[in-house]
Amino acid sequence: MSFSNINGRPLRVFVTGGAGYIGSHVVKALGEAGCEVLTYDNLSTGNRWAVLSGNLVVGDLADRERMRRALKDFAPDAVMHFAAHIEVAESVRDPLKYYRNNTACALNLLEAIHDQGVGLYIFSSTAAVYGIPSQMPVAEDAPLLPINPYGASKMMSERLLADLALADPSFRYVALRYFNVAGADVQGRIGQAYRNPTHLITRALKTAKGEFDRLQVFGDDYPTPDGTCIRDYIHVEDLAAAHLAALEHLLEGGASDVFNCGYGHGYSVREVVATARKVTGIDFMVEDAPRREGDPPELVADNSRIVARTRWRPRYDDLEFIVQTAWRWEGALPEAQQLKKAQLF
Ligand code: UFG
Repeated sequence: MSFSNINGRPLRVFVTGGAGYIGSHVVKALGEAGCEVLTYDNLSTGNRWAVLSGNLVVGDLADRERMRRALKDFAPDAVMHFAAHIEVAESVRDPLKYYRNNTACALNLLEAIHDQGVGLYIFSSTAAVYGIPSQMPVAEDAPLLPINPYGASKMMSERLLADLALADPSFRYVALRYFNVAGADVQGRIGQAYRNPTHLITRALKTAKGEFDRLQVFGDDYPTPDGTCIRDYIHVEDLAAAHLAALEHLLEGGASDVFNCGYGHGYSVREVVATARKVTGIDFMVEDAPRREGDPPELVADNSRIVARTRWRPRYDDLEFIVQTAWRWEGALPEAQQLKKAQLF
């Protein structure tokens, strides 16, 4: 996939949250595909060192003036919107934080790009919009019944997009509903670097490293074969490739659409723990804990739509490989953190 010569020049893509975990992998992939990229990120969870392609403007989506200026100066052909809060449990405790950042800021951005006439938009949505689906794997046309404010905040943003696309045919978008994104750059240069990581694979590996004394398993009485929650873990590079495939779909004149991003099969928390122990060779301590609020028992993607309507194909559908890349990144992380300290903000 190359975007280096679209109407005689590289495609320009404005990426919010491009210094974050998923955004930085997409920025890297866009750069490799020949795009000119501008990352707009407030660095609240992102890192300057993670932006491997193009320039970075440090700014907040709540700062409308700064955001509008950055958009105007860069004059993008397409916008990808990653910047968001992402923790289910936190969203239950502090819902307004999620509606403000994930929904109200998405509206700020949308107004700005609409005023500027940018017609192509890729949005980071989530499997959390489905809530507890009655059919598994879950397809895109399943009812949207989120069970936590995080999922609801993203569902509302999807609705904004759908309504805008209906009202204005020159605006087309793809909303990508991510399942559980994990792993790191296959070359080990970027990966997850949250200050307070909550994701299962990262917590498991940090426990193996000795950063936590034990890994808690949140709930063992779910209606699943081993009683722990089942998730569809997708490698972050495959997810990045889905963004490029979605962009290509729009560039080729494809209609606005919504695509699940997952592999179509899931693993329980206990299976993930077993894989993390195998990959690391460390028998780290695991303890059963109460359920975490807002967790659905099972979320597995029906990915047939993205496969049918775009050129996306999974490359790294292998939990052990996903954990291996994350483990390699955990080894490289201290170096990245040193680099961060050395950089001037
Ligand atoms: N879990 C544990 N112990 C931990 C961390 C997680 O048992 O220390 C469990 C959770 O309870 C859950 C599973 O592992 O059952 C996966 O949890 P994560 O926190 O890794 O991921 P979530 O499924 O909560 O959420 C992720 C993203 C969301 C996205 C969702 C969609 O963070 O943005 O996947 O499935 F919406």
